[in-house]
Amino acid sequence: MRITYAEIDGFKNLSGISFAPDPKYNIIAGRNAQGKTNILEAMWILSGCRSFRGSKEKDYITIGRDRMSSKIKLWDGQRDQMISYQLTKGAAPSKLITLNGVKQNGTRALFDVFRCVAFIPDDKEIIKGSPERRRNFIDMAASQLNPLFVARLNRHAAIMNQRNAMLKQLMQKRGDRSILEVWDRQAAQEGAVISWMRHEYISLINGICSELYRTISGGEEELTLEYRSAVYRSEDFEKPCGPEMYDMYFDKLRETEEYDIRTGTTHSGVNRDEIVIRINGLSARDFGSQGQIKSAALVMKLAQAVICMKRTKDAPVVFLDDVMGELDEERQRFVLGMIEDMQVFLTTPNESALLPDIKGKVLHISGGRITE
Ligand SMILES: Nc1ncnc2c1ncn2[C@@H]1O[C@H](COP(=O)(O)OP(=O)(O)OP(=O)(O)O)[C@@H](O)[C@H]1O
Ligand SMILES: [Mg+2]
Repeated sequence: MRITYAEIDGFKNLSGISFAPDPKYNIIAGRNAQGKTNILEAMWILSGCRSFRGSKEKDYITIGRDRMSSKIKLWDGQRDQMISYQLTKGAAPSKLITLNGVKQNGTRALFDVFRCVAFIPDDKEIIKGSPERRRNFIDMAASQLNPLFVARLNRHAAIMNQRNAMLKQLMQKRGDRSILEVWDRQAAQEGAVISWMRHEYISLINGICSELYRTISGGEEELTLEYRSAVYRSEDFEKPCGPEMYDMYFDKLRETEEYDIRTGTTHSGVNRDEIVIRINGLSARDFGSQGQIKSAALVMKLAQAVICMKRTKDAPVVFLDDVMGELDEERQRFVLGMIEDMQVFLTTPNESALLPDIKGKVLHISGGRITE
């Protein structure tokens, strides 16, 4: 898929941006703090994901203004799709998301429409950061293939909110303990499916990551990903995802219940899952060098793009925020080779540092506007 037109106004420092992207390379150039990343972010939120740099929705709107809008026209290989996202603040703040002119209930429908993969300097946190970062990466990547997964995650999160609220009441010797069992039954079904989907996606990405990492490290190093479920052993996933799996999950929740009530929070289930990333058998988080961590994160994102392309039979759009300049020439070429068939938007403060192979549309950004 590719973006054929973009229009952004009132998003952070951006004002009156409109352009028709190149089908291949789009270089967003400009000095620091001019709005380059903001352009990627404004388009990114149309993919149904939250900001890739963790911005809050209320901070999307330019300070001092009361409305933002971001729109793209997308060619998905079969037809044009128009996605629009508007936020208005004031006494009655409102959000309007439309797909081909039709109002959407939230961003979920967009997941299936606009698929993109963003490479950002913060990606190394997938390796270095908390287990939650790794779970989020896997969940988002898996959701790209199967939007039903998003619904599962949302439902599970809602159930856990209820369960944890109940735990806090019980901690203060209030509430009815038998209701906990009701939440546990529901959490077990959603949690089992989430575990299953994580297991499946990690099996898939593991093979591709190993292969890519071997290439990027000159055949010398091995990257592996292992799903460490807080509930199941790896052989449990040989069973179908049905009542037996739900029961195992339910039993696990009950196991920690006394402790959960004492502390007012849940200690088992998918929110305790970990994805162990190893290079040559050693935990990358604990032992990886800076270069290894950067390369491992890069490879995981590339693998995500490759899987997305294979599964959906359509190339995702790629955003490269300030990452090319960080790579040596060989690695830049490796990345370009992997994303050969994809439309690319990349930001750089230094156009001349890019490989000469990268030719396409150049947008010069200054003070939140396009300058010629
Ligand atoms: N809500 C907002 N209203 C107005 N300006 C904002 C808002 N949010 C962020 N900004 C401004 O946007 C600018 C940053 O834009 P952005 O991160 O896109 O820069 P950049 O061109 O990518 O810079 P760098 O090269 O340093 O990464 C900052 O100067 C910031 O103050
Ligand atoms: Mg930036």
